[in-house]
Amino acid sequence: MIGRLNHVAIAVHDLEAAASVYRDTLGADVSDPIDMPDHGVTTVFVELPNTKIELLRPLGEASPIAKFLERNKSGGMHHVCYEVEDILSARDKLKEEGATVLGDGEPKIGAHGKPVLFLSPKDFCGTLVEIEQV
Ligand code: CO
Repeated sequence: MIGRLNHVAIAVHDLEAAASVYRDTLGADVSDPIDMPDHGVTTVFVELPNTKIELLRPLGEASPIAKFLERNKSGGMHHVCYEVEDILSARDKLKEEGATVLGDGEPKIGAHGKPVLFLSPKDFCGTLVEIEQV
């Protein structure tokens, strides 16, 4: 069902410092910070030849990554995103398999303008999984 790895998201406390690590230390192409108020994050996109890294910093009061950062003082890997062809059929299949779809179960438009859903880490080896229709 899942296809390519679309991105790995890393939550950070200091977005400028994180962008500098990827740009200056690791020599990657790094975007300017982009505010995503609908998602409660500011994002820097790191373009790699085969996938992307998204550096996320909380934006606003109710950011979904605030609690994660409270528990992870150095920041850390927040989720992985896999591509699917049809998000509704993927969702239905995952539910059949007993996976927990987070939120109201309806796809939201993600950081790349495509529909996304999140799946509970308890069903996927302790890792929050995002699926994105491409
Ligand atoms: Co993501």
